[in-house]
Amino acid sequence: MTDTDRELLRATFGQDAELYDQARPGYPNQLFADLAQLAGLTPQSRVLEIGCGTGQATRPLAQLGCTIVAVELSPDMATVARHNLRDFPNVTIEVSPFEDWTPPALPFDLVVSATAFHWIDPDIRFQKAADILRPGGTLAVIYSDHVAGGTERFFIDVQDCYERFDPKTPPGLRLTPAADLTDDSSEFDRSQRFGPAQFRRYEWEQAYTTRSYLDVLMTYSPTRSLPEANRKALLSCIGGLIDRDHNGQVSKRYLTQLTLAHKTT
Ligand SMILES: C[S@@+](CC[C@H](N)C(=O)[O-])C[C@H]1O[C@@H](n2cnc3c(N)ncnc32)[C@H](O)[C@@H]1O
Repeated sequence: MTDTDRELLRATFGQDAELYDQARPGYPNQLFADLAQLAGLTPQSRVLEIGCGTGQATRPLAQLGCTIVAVELSPDMATVARHNLRDFPNVTIEVSPFEDWTPPALPFDLVVSATAFHWIDPDIRFQKAADILRPGGTLAVIYSDHVAGGTERFFIDVQDCYERFDPKTPPGLRLTPAADLTDDSSEFDRSQRFGPAQFRRYEWEQAYTTRSYLDVLMTYSPTRSLPEANRKALLSCIGGLIDRDHNGQVSKRYLTQLTLAHKTT
């Protein structure tokens, strides 16, 4: 992805922060229990979250009682996040691109980013995260992928809608089984700032109605960045398929991966 594409696409989330908040699923609770244990979090820990969105990962972390500073690019996402986290005085949300953000002098015990680290400039993300961690502190990166499973027939048939209305879709695309997605610490390793990475994987399914499935599609940057006529035709094709062939209900299978490592230098 070019720098320009990254900057255009990463700005799409804030175009409808309320929709993002209502439509995007969060992450399995077990992930936060594992993260707390692997990072050695206590109520005294200082956590920096990069790209908090409307607080999908911030809330379960805030419930652990640690002090959280979240840096979020979009003022609208930050407004919704502040509202969602209004009961947690231990959370502060700052609006800035992480690349330009001035960190406080006191280092952090954990830097965490959920479905957001890939939006940060690749020349900066690992080095700046390491710079603001204490020695031995943890960098944790969370991603969810859509994997094979769920309503399998729907995800085969829906490819036809993408091939008709989304010019970027590779022909014949099929979902990857979770087992084929391997653990990857190459960026951690290349940065030369972290020890060996640890991995945790969580597979789960989310049920959607036609409306909630179209809503979640509208939180994805590739959908939002389609020309309007294509986007409308794509959503109508997909909605018709769910209504007609699946009685208005589909299930989507996710693999959430947690990758973390401790700072060495
Ligand atoms: C896909 S959303 C993930 C939001 C949330 N963490 C979640 O798990 O659903 C990516 C978020 O990263 C934010 N973001 C993108 N680039 C950023 C940057 N350079 N600095 C800070 N936040 C950024 C976006 O505004 C958006 O809220």
